[in-house]
Amino acid sequence: MPKTTISVIKADIGSFPGHSRTHPKILEKAAKILKEEEGKLLIDSFVTHCGDDLELIMTHTRGEDNPEIHGLAWKVFTEGAAMAKEMKLYGAGQDILSDAFSGNVKGMGPGVAEMEFEERASDPVLVFMADKTEPGAWNYFLYRIFADPMTNPGLVIDPNMHEGFIFEVHDVVDKRKIRFRTPEESYSLLAYIGAPSRYVVKGVWRKDGLVAASTSTQRLNMLAGRYVGKDDPVMVVRAQSGLPSVGEVIDPFATPVIVAGWMRGSHHGPLMPVGLCDANCTRFDGPPRVICLGFQVSNGKLIGPADMFDDVAFDRVRSKVNEIADIMRAHGPFEPHRLSLEEMEYTTLPGVEKQLKDRWQPLD
Ligand code: F6R
Ligand code: MG
Ligand code: MG
Repeated sequence: MPKTTISVIKADIGSFPGHSRTHPKILEKAAKILKEEEGKLLIDSFVTHCGDDLELIMTHTRGEDNPEIHGLAWKVFTEGAAMAKEMKLYGAGQDILSDAFSGNVKGMGPGVAEMEFEERASDPVLVFMADKTEPGAWNYFLYRIFADPMTNPGLVIDPNMHEGFIFEVHDVVDKRKIRFRTPEESYSLLAYIGAPSRYVVKGVWRKDGLVAASTSTQRLNMLAGRYVGKDDPVMVVRAQSGLPSVGEVIDPFATPVIVAGWMRGSHHGPLMPVGLCDANCTRFDGPPRVICLGFQVSNGKLIGPADMFDDVAFDRVRSKVNEIADIMRAHGPFEPHRLSLEEMEYTTLPGVEKQLKDRWQPLD
């Protein structure tokens, strides 16, 4: 049996009204293009959206960074963007930063999380997709899932997890990477990933090499050199049989964690786990949202999905998120609702500074 690859590739190619949701006609078109490739390039596919991001979930046997798979995603995004332009959707073509596709969508606007693995006897896979936040938003959750025994008792109880995990961290500013072993290097890991705007967990492996999680780390605003929206991230996590259980993976999302993004990609706000029917951004273009689809992967087929946050068990965190959203909003344009100066420098502030540059006088 060849290895299975799951590729989750996403882009915001236009939405309605404003930045709130993807248009159903585009979802339909995307699903149709991918369906046509099933049995050819792909084994299986599923198309959805989180807010204004079109999410392509694809399985195949061609490995990560495959030019044909990336080319297929690019075709979906460019054809979808053309439809978005025709309907005059908002931000039509936003995440398509170049016309010249060269075999890999990385660095061209879309976000990518891919994972190649040998299927176990039974392989549960969870796909997380968020809108109005950034790739580092996964850091907190990945730490809790794979390194915190208060969240994941499997680290203590299951001999297959007892040795711990390896985290690969990318520095998205200086473009370098490092691996940390947990539990022994947990504090060093936290020293970095506690700053999620710069240090992003790219992947997690069990110490025997078994791949457990993969995230997207593209930072769109940096790629484009100007503010073009946050880089709303995706993540793939495998579960069970010597990995965290499905329940251990999703439990940390019952905590209302504050992330960067929201309005104009320039505000902190609480991340709300929602079912697909609520994956539309509204209040102040948010609040930031996350959905999770659960599948069993069977010879590359995606058995599912199960809409994991469509559950009363997550009602309480949603209600806490709404309360925190009120508190954050009450701050208006003040920090810590607004991002720190350093973060704003990558996004919207340079324009204002340029305008007022000559009005500043030196202090005596
Ligand atoms: C956040 C986002 C929106 C826009 C906001 C202003 O990622 O996409 O919050 O930043 O709606 O959009 P413009 O400047 O296009 O009117
Ligand atoms: Mg948008
Ligand atoms: Mg988005």
